[in-house]
Amino acid sequence: MSKVRIYTLAKDLSVDNQKLLEILDSLGVSYKSVSSTLDEDTVDAIKGILAEESAATPSAPTDSQAASQTPAESTAAPQLQSAPPTPHHKDDVTAPTSNSVPSTAAQAASGQVSSAVAVQEAPPVQAPEIPHRAPVVTIMGHVDHGKTSLLDYIRKTKVAAKEAGGITQHVGAFEAQTSKGRIVFIDTPGHEAFTTIRARGANVADIAIIVVAADDSIMPQTREAIAHAQAAKVPLIVAINKIDLPQADVERVKTDLTSVNLVPEEYGGDTVVVPVSAKTGEGVEDLLEYISLTAELEDLRADPKGEFSGVVIESKVDKQSGVLATVMVQQGTVNVGDFLVVGETYGKIKALMDSAGNRIKSAGPSTPVQVLGFSEAPVSGDKVASASNEHTAREKVSVRVDTRRTVEEARQKRKLSLEEMMGP
Ligand code: GTP
Ligand code: MG
Repeated sequence: MSKVRIYTLAKDLSVDNQKLLEILDSLGVSYKSVSSTLDEDTVDAIKGILAEESAATPSAPTDSQAASQTPAESTAAPQLQSAPPTPHHKDDVTAPTSNSVPSTAAQAASGQVSSAVAVQEAPPVQAPEIPHRAPVVTIMGHVDHGKTSLLDYIRKTKVAAKEAGGITQHVGAFEAQTSKGRIVFIDTPGHEAFTTIRARGANVADIAIIVVAADDSIMPQTREAIAHAQAAKVPLIVAINKIDLPQADVERVKTDLTSVNLVPEEYGGDTVVVPVSAKTGEGVEDLLEYISLTAELEDLRADPKGEFSGVVIESKVDKQSGVLATVMVQQGTVNVGDFLVVGETYGKIKALMDSAGNRIKSAGPSTPVQVLGFSEAPVSGDKVASASNEHTAREKVSVRVDTRRTVEEARQKRKLSLEEMMGP
């Protein structure tokens, strides 16, 4: 049997990717993404574990059942030795996986199970689960390689008809209801002057799509975009665009990618490369599929009931409405009437709009919203917090101002004492 990709196996076995990843974690098998391949032994071990699980407990296993299961252990144990004890995927920082969940109290108390078995048989998380949230996907790449066109295609065909026309020109972030669920996209400019915007875009992203035109291949801002995604530790997917053009050369792009250390899967590497055309739509569905697979691997969660936090995507001053800021809700929920603190200012939310321009009353995690109510334009990239009333908002601002002053004074003092030491 040849090697099989994780997501293919998940499909074949009718389990979700996350489940397979948990099993791989428990086996100590390393992988980089859901497109990593597995050898025959590992596949057999996985099948053994799944068979055991379904035989023992058709529904969720109880602690005692989990702790007493040993046949799966004996099936899986030989693979444990051959598996490299390396860490797993590149995004450990953002992806709490099930192996970070402590094993059950029963197992801990009995103390008789080896850690490998305890983790392997750990039942699903019992604590109230933080809900999943939609992935935030930033589109980056060289100027004119087709980033906006790609988003236009996705938006036109996938966003509910009522939302289609309503998106304002200025909003670089929008939500799309796709066949793979809700995805939030952020467009970034490719022109060389906009390095900071690209870096910011990468920082709010869960996943970066690097768009490379098939007739132009890797260009300076492609390299820069890749560097931003890597610096932000964001998994990336390469979309080779414009494959409808007669001069498109997909193979050349793939070869060129290896020169920037992104080795496509077909070449034995781990970089997901999807050929697409923003013009004809070819490959776009595949791209969405890969986004959703990557998001699943990231296990993105945020609590809509938790404390609000967000980040400013962009802001502008509108002659009629005043300051309009696009804020990405990262955690919690923001409501009309809330006070928001950003930088050293605060504002009361007069109105909220979704990315389709509809007025909304509140917005939860992974939602880009336009906020009306700041008295001055907040700085893009700044964190946004909320306050329950004006008094708290003011206090939060004054703490920030004080902190900045203290830092500045300390810096000034150091500078003066250095000058004294150096003499006139
Ligand atoms: P910047 O935001 O300026 O960096 O550009 P961009 O990457 O957003 O590129 P944009 O979507 O504006 O497209 C640039 C040009 O390429 C436009 O003329 C598009 O019509 C064209 N284009 C984009 N995608 C495709 C495609 O898949 N096929 C063809 N034939 N043309 C495309
Ligand atoms: Mg563009």
